[in-house]
Amino acid sequence: MSPVVARTRAELKAARAGMGGVVGVVMTMGALHSGHAGLLRAARESSDHLVMTLFVNPLQFGPNEDFDRYPRTFERDLEIAAAEGVDVVFAPTVDQMYPHGEPSVRVNPGPVGEILEGASRPGFFHGVLTVVSKLLHLTGADVAYFGEKDYQQLTLIRAMVRDLDLDVEIRGVPTVREPDGLALSSRNRYLSDAERRIALALSRALRAGAQAAADGEGPEATLAAADKELDGPELDYLVLTDPDLGPPPEHGPARLLVAARVGTTRLIDNIPVEIR
Ligand code: PAJ
Repeated sequence: MSPVVARTRAELKAARAGMGGVVGVVMTMGALHSGHAGLLRAARESSDHLVMTLFVNPLQFGPNEDFDRYPRTFERDLEIAAAEGVDVVFAPTVDQMYPHGEPSVRVNPGPVGEILEGASRPGFFHGVLTVVSKLLHLTGADVAYFGEKDYQQLTLIRAMVRDLDLDVEIRGVPTVREPDGLALSSRNRYLSDAERRIALALSRALRAGAQAAADGEGPEATLAAADKELDGPELDYLVLTDPDLGPPPEHGPARLLVAARVGTTRLIDNIPVEIR
């Protein structure tokens, strides 16, 4: 069945009023791919009702970023949402989301918002957390699902919910990949065939690092093994952290994260690693 499309706050409220039980939400900027579909499927399995939000949030794009050329594929997105059993798609305009213009009050992500993605994209996580907080309130969801693909985003959303006592459960969902390892991303469609081959270095590097860690080679060798695979893309960062993005542990669970530019497209990826 086709989802109900709510364009305004009032329409969302009306659709939401009819929902009992556990309400799940998956937030997206559209241009849906199998990664989003995987997230929707995980949410569908453990919710009585499923809301998907579709909003390209201007607050999280820098002045030189791709807000205007970000892919917009609404009809196709609706088909995917329908196939994954979404009940309501909330697709507001910018004016609906920000009726008073750019908000002067924003959620401050703290120090973790200034490193990695935050260092390359000033204000990015203020924009993300502000819209996520608004969408949590507007949808009134009980459980919200986010991809591990955007690991720093997931970490900061968990921290926001914890630090601000938001009454919602956050669940992370593992990254969906192409058969050759490339993490699915709406920005992959910017890549030419040659660039896509170069982009494969990111997931290859993460796998090599995870293998080195599993072989007991330690944090430095883990990073070196990953770095060796990264000679095509223009590297922004390659880091090994603990699961909360703090300094890496001597032993136990850790995270390996990479960001790099291929042509004009900036790509990110990450993987869990076990340091032995
Ligand atoms: P967007 O990039 O559209 O991603 C929406 C959700 O899909 C995020 O939780 C993201 O982590 C998840 N996702 C993307 N690629 C994935 C993949 N390959 N496997 C699994 N999950 C994947 O992230 C955003 O939008 C925005 O910042 C948003 C949270 C909607 C706020 O504007």
